[in-house]
Amino acid sequence: MKKSRRRFLQNSLVLVPALGCAPLSYLNGEAKKPLVLSTWDSGVIANAGAWPVLQSEGRALDAVEQGGIAIEDHISCCVGLGGNPDRDGFVTLDACIMDEKANCGSVAFLERIKHPVSVARKVMEETPHVMLVGEGAQQFALEQGFPLEDGKLSPDAEKAYKKWLEKSAYKPVKNIERTQLNKGKGPYAPSMFDDGSFNHDTMGTICIDSHGDLSGMCTTSGMGFKMRGRVGDSPIIGSGLFVDNEAGAAVATGQGEEIIRISGCHLVVELMRNGATPQDACEKAIARIVKRDPVKAKDFQACFIAINKKGEHGAFAVHPGFNYTISDMTQENKVLDSKSYFS
Ligand code: GLY
Repeated sequence: MKKSRRRFLQNSLVLVPALGCAPLSYLNGEAKKPLVLSTWDSGVIANAGAWPVLQSEGRALDAVEQGGIAIEDHISCCVGLGGNPDRDGFVTLDACIMDEKANCGSVAFLERIKHPVSVARKVMEETPHVMLVGEGAQQFALEQGFPLEDGKLSPDAEKAYKKWLEKSAYKPVKNIERTQLNKGKGPYAPSMFDDGSFNHDTMGTICIDSHGDLSGMCTTSGMGFKMRGRVGDSPIIGSGLFVDNEAGAAVATGQGEEIIRISGCHLVVELMRNGATPQDACEKAIARIVKRDPVKAKDFQACFIAINKKGEHGAFAVHPGFNYTISDMTQENKVLDSKSYFS
């Protein structure tokens, strides 16, 4: 681990002024920038990847990609090749990235490639397309020089899969990362509960750089033990992620199907364009999800985080238990609990 990243992780949950190296925009008292927000407390890892880029006045796009790489490097239930597999025992990854000019790239159902967020960026920069899936996405990644990994499950995912096969239960559990943390198993342990149920949680990062530009990324192994071929909201621009450099940026985590139904992140950003604060916008989007089926909503989690051009941020979830990590020049790295629709 690079020294700067280790130091950043050590500063987690501590207010650490770092004005000695603050960009001019911050010292002039302009909008709070740079600023980076990531879903969940594992956002500490993503933000640690993004922050060095932002701190050296780099581009938001580079920062979010580095955030994605950092979390994909980390073994977890829900992101990267260490994530839980689909029903057939294969890990399939989804990711997307979007910059301040509405350039975007996305990959879905990608197998045996370690950094889907970087492949998504290549789709954005090296092809006339926005989205590549499955075999075609993998072929493109190989052409771009990404190595083909061995496809073996991580020891923890293997164990979780075997346990899941005992019952083949297919029901979501809310707030896996948080729950694991509270269970004392460590925040990044693979998900598997004693009753054989499972969950998934996506890592998303949005940021504003010192020039005032926004970008975002989203990366996930999707729902654990999903049907083969299932793709959630995360690689879908407008659902799992949306960035508009005039209005704001939003990223989602939780039950992808519910987020897709309302084009969640596009909705959050459009609400901000129409004057809503990031907090208001997240709350309205979650209310829209719940309103569609309030009974069903009792059993799934969905969450948004958002920022606007002023560097204001917001977060909201269907249920308690969602948290997110925010890092700026004054409070390098802070984990905050989100408010929620249900208490
Ligand atoms: N939000 C990630 C998924 O549903 O796959």
